[in-house]
Order: sequence, then C-alpha cells, then structure tokens
Amino acid sequence: MSAEETSGQKKPERNFVVAIDGPAGAGKSTIARHLARHFGLLNLETGAMYRAFALKALRLEVPLEDPAALEQLATDTDIKLEPGEEENRVLLDGEDVTGQIRNQTVTDAASRVSVYPPIRAAMVKRQQELGANGGVVMEGRDIGTVVFPNAEVKIFLDAAPEVRGMRRYDQIGQHGHSEAKPVPPPDEVIRDLRARDERDRNRADSPLKPAPDAFLLDSTHLTLEEAVKAAEATVDKWLAKSKAAGTRLG
Ligand code: DC
Repeated sequence: MSAEETSGQKKPERNFVVAIDGPAGAGKSTIARHLARHFGLLNLETGAMYRAFALKALRLEVPLEDPAALEQLATDTDIKLEPGEEENRVLLDGEDVTGQIRNQTVTDAASRVSVYPPIRAAMVKRQQELGANGGVVMEGRDIGTVVFPNAEVKIFLDAAPEVRGMRRYDQIGQHGHSEAKPVPPPDEVIRDLRARDERDRNRADSPLKPAPDAFLLDSTHLTLEEAVKAAEATVDKWLAKSKAAGTRLG
C-alpha cells in the first residue's frame, strides 16, 4: 500500500506533521478534525485501522487472545485509510467498513488486538507511509512516541476518566444505540473506558504515554471549543517559531 494510493483525494497545503495522542474520550478526533481544516492538513485517525482489523478477526472468529492466529490474519489483510472531511473512510480488503467499526464489540476487540507487537508493526508501517510526505494530523496512542517521533508538533490530550466517560456516553446516545441495543448506563461506559485505558497504558509494546516533548493538554475543565483553541495555539506557536528560524513549511 503506498501513501499516494490511500491519500490521493486532497493534497495537503503544508508538509508538517501534527501528532495527537491520548486516551479515549479526551477529544482527539474533534481537535484533529479542526486542526486539519484550519491548517490545511489531512486528518488520519489511526484507531480506525485497529478497529477494522478487529472487525475482521471478529467476523472470522479468530480468538482475540491468540497472537499467532492474529499475526497470520494480519499478513492476509489489507487496510486502507482515506482521509475525509468529517471522518476517515476505512477499507478492509476493499470493503468500506467505516459504518461498522464504532460499536462497543469492535471497540473492545480493537483494544485487545492492539496489544500484540506484530499487529502494531503492520499498522505502524502503513501509518508511516501515509504520513511520509507530511501534511497530516495523525491521531492515536503512539503517534508522537513511535509512528512519528520526529513530528513537528506533538499534543498529548487527556482528561479525567469520569469526564471522558460522560463524553463517550453522550456520543453513544447520539449515534450508537438502537432498540435492540439501548444506551448503557454512564457507570458502565466509564467502567469500559477505564478497562481500555488500563490495556492501552500498560501494554508492553508502545503503551499510551506522552512523548517527552509533547504539549500536555488536559481538557478536564475545558469545553471542547476551549481545548480546540489551545491545540490551535500550540500549532500557531510552532509555525511562528519556524518562521522566525526561516524554516520552509511547504
Ligand atoms: O482511537 P480509537 O478509540 O478509535 O482506537 C481504538 C483502539 O485502537 C484503542 O483501544 C487502542 C488502539 N490504538 C492503538 O493502540 N494505537 C493507535 N495509534 C490507535 C489506536
């Protein structure tokens, strides 16, 4: 898979990389979308790739605790991520699965499959290809630490679990429920989120943690609009510094 193949729709106006990492519900997607629009960058949500892979494992009933079987599956799987205006389009072996990867079963499975190093290595390689020419906001868990350790701007976004859980709860209420599957109570959403946090932060390979040079943005007491402004100011500061230093920005 080449970068041109997957990100061909819109040429970014700049060539720097903004890495946004943080736990679920911290506001990464909202902020990444805004920064992409504001600064003329492509927005790439790497979590969608882990989600698409998890969906395939679930469909084929590959046990999520069998690393060898998952690794075999990864060698046989083609995942493409295409940046879009609002959200990324995800193609799993050529099938558009964008609408099928946000439910709770896939969410939980994505967190489980993403602990295995061979799965991560395959995803990281694809993500590095996608961002090779710069001009991207890439969001995930390991972008500033592993995927693009030399990213020009790194933001680590966090918030208290209760606040993130309530944001997730509101999102599920808006999109992810049906009569057959009612919205779970808030304490259940917060409990699931803590379990995912635990796995993401404590896995041996590429655990979720801020890069040493990341700007730490805690959105616990901020509205999403305020967090967006703070992230925008971080990029502006870097742009001003680069301009002063005479760096060409593409
Ligand atoms: O950001 P998200 O909730 O869509 O991510 C789904 C899962 O994928 C999450 O539990 C952790 C994993 N993930 C990861 O390990 N590394 C990334 N760069 C992005 C996501």
